Amino acid sequence: MKLNIAVLAGDGIGPEISVQGVAVMTAVCKKFGHEVDYKEALVGAAAIDAVGDPFPENTFRICKEADAVLFSSVGDPKFDNDPTAKVRPEQGLLAMRKKLGLFANIRPVQTFKCLVHKSPLKDELVNGADFICIRELTGGMYFGEKHEGDDMAYDTNKYTRPEVERILKVAYEYARRRRKHLTVVDKANVLASSRLWRKVAQEMALNYPDVTTDYMYVDNAAMRMIQEPTFFDVMVTENTFGDILTDEGSCITGSMGLLPSASTGESTPVFEPIHGSWPQAKGLNIANPLAQILSVAMLLEYFGLQAEGDLVRRAVDASLDANVRTPEIQVEGGAKYGTKEVGQWIVDWIEKQ
Ligand code: IPM
Ligand code: MN
Repeated sequence: MKLNIAVLAGDGIGPEISVQGVAVMTAVCKKFGHEVDYKEALVGAAAIDAVGDPFPENTFRICKEADAVLFSSVGDPKFDNDPTAKVRPEQGLLAMRKKLGLFANIRPVQTFKCLVHKSPLKDELVNGADFICIRELTGGMYFGEKHEGDDMAYDTNKYTRPEVERILKVAYEYARRRRKHLTVVDKANVLASSRLWRKVAQEMALNYPDVTTDYMYVDNAAMRMIQEPTFFDVMVTENTFGDILTDEGSCITGSMGLLPSASTGESTPVFEPIHGSWPQAKGLNIANPLAQILSVAMLLEYFGLQAEGDLVRRAVDASLDANVRTPEIQVEGGAKYGTKEVGQWIVDWIEKQ
């Protein structure tokens, strides 16, 4: 197979973890005889600094023409505490999602046995937790009509039936391939938009009799995720709720640096870690590259390259088992490895297989 990959490293720790993701991708592709070509492009604060636009036209073109985007992270503190800033790095990410029509964000919440002790939850609650949050990514408050005045401001949480139907379809298809349990998360007791979600879901459930559908208010879901994370198999929800719940989900596993995600839709799919740009760690060689590396596994699997994705996952497991870990997940007394060293160890392991 020949793959053209757009590499959008972005800000903060983005460039450091991106290098490791690319190295792993290259090693796997070499092993299986795939040809892979990379094109780097600017996004986020890096793009604002260079050309004044967080998602420049040239980056859009490179993404459009690629088979997949390997994205890292955007965000820079110089914009965070300045509510008057006209352009922000995050707008680059939102523009990318909108322009590529990436309406489905797939965020797996998976535990790693050897890291369960790092979770803030008790082992017996976390053990075996394995679910996927499917977050709608191009609608709702993020993109609805906005007004920002000095004395009044609002965001509109608008959803249309086709938008709800297409994301539910993705969710049902995931549920079918998994444990056949879908939880639709909404706030239908208060929000009109949520009542549309629920109505559409109830209609669609009839077409998926093999899947058990249940409905849960978002406040309740937030609680249940902590009380009994193993309850969930596939969860589907709107953009804003999904943003919040997936941060919560990432904590369950013990480190935010471990979870990858895929965003798919109408055009080129994007694969990225769910964590942010962690600007304080920039250049320190301490960021965990595993979420980025597992994003490469998701990318390969998206193209049907199961054995290739599996090799990446096994390499990640092997590095954890060998205690080759970045500081935040290292066991007491264990050596602390840097971003580069973890990446290199994984590449070497793959080459030896
Ligand atoms: C995420 C991030 C983004 C979001 C930010 C950076 C705009 O938090 O991907 O979850 O809110 O969607
Ligand atoms: Mn978020």
